[in-house]
Amino acid sequence: MKTYPNVFIFDHPLIKHKVSILRDKNTGMKEFRELIEEITTVMTYESMRDVELVPVEVETPLEKTVQYRVKEESIAIVPILRAGLGMVNGVHNVFPTARVGHIGMYRDEETLEPREYYCKLPEGIEDKTVFLVDPMLATGGSACDALAALKKRGVKKIKFMAIIAAPEGIEKVAAEHPDVPVYVSTLDRCLNEHGYILPGLGDAGDRLFGTK
Ligand code: PRP
Ligand code: URA
Repeated sequence: MKTYPNVFIFDHPLIKHKVSILRDKNTGMKEFRELIEEITTVMTYESMRDVELVPVEVETPLEKTVQYRVKEESIAIVPILRAGLGMVNGVHNVFPTARVGHIGMYRDEETLEPREYYCKLPEGIEDKTVFLVDPMLATGGSACDALAALKKRGVKKIKFMAIIAAPEGIEKVAAEHPDVPVYVSTLDRCLNEHGYILPGLGDAGDRLFGTK
């Protein structure tokens, strides 16, 4: 696959370890949910290397010093429903006060086209850095439409985070949204004829919520 300046694929041994358990069809719902959260927390740390810091004066037991903090109120999380919900706690572990918006998308199983069915965003989202999260980036249709929906509502700074991606999805997002940094824990081989990622982990929403 071509490389893109805005696409960051993690190559972290700890993430490899956790993703290998996530993929296993014998991993149950509780462990699956916990792993999605843990991987998201690690990814959040890694994707915030460019975060803006503000100086603050701190008094230690010994002296006053100028230190640097993240403006937590400038961070928001937007999961793509349903499976993105599984990543919210992972970002909240790093930014506990981040507001949460929701975008509902489902893929039409025949055409694989995404359909938006819900969108509720926190007030003032235009001025925040938004983590758009979804564990699976397959054809890229859902991510591209969610990114367009956020931009249409005035959001200027977005980071998209997915746990597993197919090359097809990365290419689509990189082509349609070259301004958006994309963080992916694992790049998989390809899509099958039903739009599932191979080797993948199956249907992330069903495994998170036990619907099948
Ligand atoms: C899954 C996944 C993504 C989308 C990825 O959601 O969570 O949102 O598919 O596929 P794409 O890149 O081809 O658009 P799904 O539509 O199955 O809905 P769900 O989360 O409600 O299960
Ligand atoms: N959505 C999923 O949940 N899994 C895939 O492999 C592709 C899309």
